[in-house]
Amino acid sequence: MQGLLHGKVAVITGAGSGVGRAAALLFAGHGAKVVAADINLEGVEAVAAEVVANGGEAVGVHCDVTDAASVDAAVAKAVEAFGRLDVMYNNAGITTKAGQGFLETGDADLATLTAVNVGGVIHGCQSAIRQFDAQGGGGAIVMTASVAGLVGFGGVVYGSSKGAVTSLTRTLALEVARKGIRVNSVCPAGMPTNFGGGILKASDAARQHTASHHPLGRVIEPEECAAAALFLASDLASNITGVNLPVDGGLAAGKPIV
Ligand SMILES: NC(=O)c1ccc[n+]([C@@H]2O[C@H](COP(=O)([O-])OP(=O)(O)OC[C@H]3O[C@@H](n4cnc5c(N)ncnc54)[C@H](O)[C@@H]3O)[C@@H](O)[C@H]2O)c1
Repeated sequence: MQGLLHGKVAVITGAGSGVGRAAALLFAGHGAKVVAADINLEGVEAVAAEVVANGGEAVGVHCDVTDAASVDAAVAKAVEAFGRLDVMYNNAGITTKAGQGFLETGDADLATLTAVNVGGVIHGCQSAIRQFDAQGGGGAIVMTASVAGLVGFGGVVYGSSKGAVTSLTRTLALEVARKGIRVNSVCPAGMPTNFGGGILKASDAARQHTASHHPLGRVIEPEECAAAALFLASDLASNITGVNLPVDGGLAAGKPIV
């Protein structure tokens, strides 16, 4: 059986760590040629080397998603190295400083968070759509939003940035539907990655605390989030667009009565 992304070309932002790294390995394992893009060049080169060591095709590129030209360059690299673009996975994201409350979030922190979590996603969508248009239509865009973009959960400012992404997913999906471009998001809950200083990786207590908020009772592995992104990027989801898919152990479904 051929992989779910056989012959397709994907750009993945934030691919140097966590979900992006898991997606680079999974997408390539399913036949995609991958441009792994990240502000952390060393990290993303290591991920690309891991893909190649597994028999896949990938290149790592430096990319700062807050800079539209830098995102354009990552897409241009996909065309130069692999001939086209089929999948844009806007995954890069950050959160506010640990312990920083709503009232303590200053304008500089707000600007940085918004530039990455909202501006970065918009740049990725704009760049991908221009390339899809140049290819004559079609293409799949996936974002990593968050369960915090669906329900109130955790940091207020972070949640507002992810709410922007879930809203963007719906509105952009409608805007580009007649071009045959699909736009969807995955909405994970707590994952043990380097996110937020890597607290869920480092601390058993933090992991257990987060897991206790997930009805299925454990944290979300980055590979589980990448699997949902793979589905949405693939032709299995060929008539699915405008969807924000929770990968949250049931968190967004509500609170169980126990
Ligand atoms: N880990 C969680 O608990 C969690 C929960 C919900 C949603 N998310 C979302 O998942 C996505 C992936 O995060 P992760 O958990 O894998 O975290 P991570 O910190 O392990 O990986 C994020 C990657 O994004 C890169 N990055 C940061 N700023 C960038 C920029 N300006 N340009 C390009 N790359 C940049 C980082 O270098 C890093 O490699 C993010 O959008 C995050 O908001 C994470």
